[in-house]
Amino acid sequence: MYNLGLIGYPIKHSLSPWIHEGFFLRANLTGQYSIFEINPDQSFAEEVNKLKDQNIHGFNVTVPYKQMIIKFLDEIDSEAEKMGAVNTVCNENGKWIGYNTDGNGYLRALKHKFPTIFNDKMETKRVLIFGAGGAARGIYYAMMSKGFKHIDLANRTVASAQKILELKNKYTNSSILSLTEAEDKIDTYDMIIQTTSVGMNPEADQSIIEIERLKQGAIVSDIVYQPIETKFLKDAKSLGAHIHYGHSMLLYQAQSAFEKWTGKRLVINDMEKELEQKLKGR
Ligand code: ATR
Repeated sequence: MYNLGLIGYPIKHSLSPWIHEGFFLRANLTGQYSIFEINPDQSFAEEVNKLKDQNIHGFNVTVPYKQMIIKFLDEIDSEAEKMGAVNTVCNENGKWIGYNTDGNGYLRALKHKFPTIFNDKMETKRVLIFGAGGAARGIYYAMMSKGFKHIDLANRTVASAQKILELKNKYTNSSILSLTEAEDKIDTYDMIIQTTSVGMNPEADQSIIEIERLKQGAIVSDIVYQPIETKFLKDAKSLGAHIHYGHSMLLYQAQSAFEKWTGKRLVINDMEKELEQKLKGR
């Protein structure tokens, strides 16, 4: 019987219990996935120590604790360390080990939607990431590690994008753009990944930039999944882009976490549609 869960705030409406309960069924395993909401007014250390006493098998970590959890771990995976953020903790024989499955989840979701994406001359593709928060950092690192050689960042605050470039390896070219510059040059990119919270409900009428032109065949992702189709994606779709929805990243980062806890990599093709229905019903 697996005892898993999620820490974060606010998480009462999180879809993770639904996702992981679906995984337990598919994996033929018994287990529970609980919500451990930690209010910022509570003592984080005290709440985390309660989890240690419960001998939990593992848990996910979400906003605002992805950095704060690090000092309570016994070990941290090297990728999560570079990211400076942990979203998955595994209890391995009493030791807490921290991982980050966000970047990897994004890559899995991308491959699921575009199966040949990593064979198609990755090194020639120009990628643009909007945002410079934790999600942008994870995706930048994952795309670079996968072999994309040209990854630019566009952010409202240029200085925070600069911090992400500290991760850059010598094979990768990256520039930082203001949002206006990104708007002007948008038609020079093959892949555009929107990682900011702009366009999320209840501000679904907003978009990080106005897209008027796009390169033929461009892929456009948005990690926002409420609404499922953001204005950014709607605009891109109307210009003929191949669009990639945010809820698929949510699903695949969970698949990757579940695999760390149970050793099982599940086939979850059918779950994307179910998750879509669930989101539409909210
Ligand atoms: P996460 O960890 O989920 O990626 P985050 O760290 O809060 O979230 O990062 C939010 C990102 O959204 C940042 O890139 C932020 O831009 P700044 O670095 O300039 O703050 C971006 N963002 C949030 N609201 C925005 C807005 N109204 N306009 C432009 N960018 C916005």
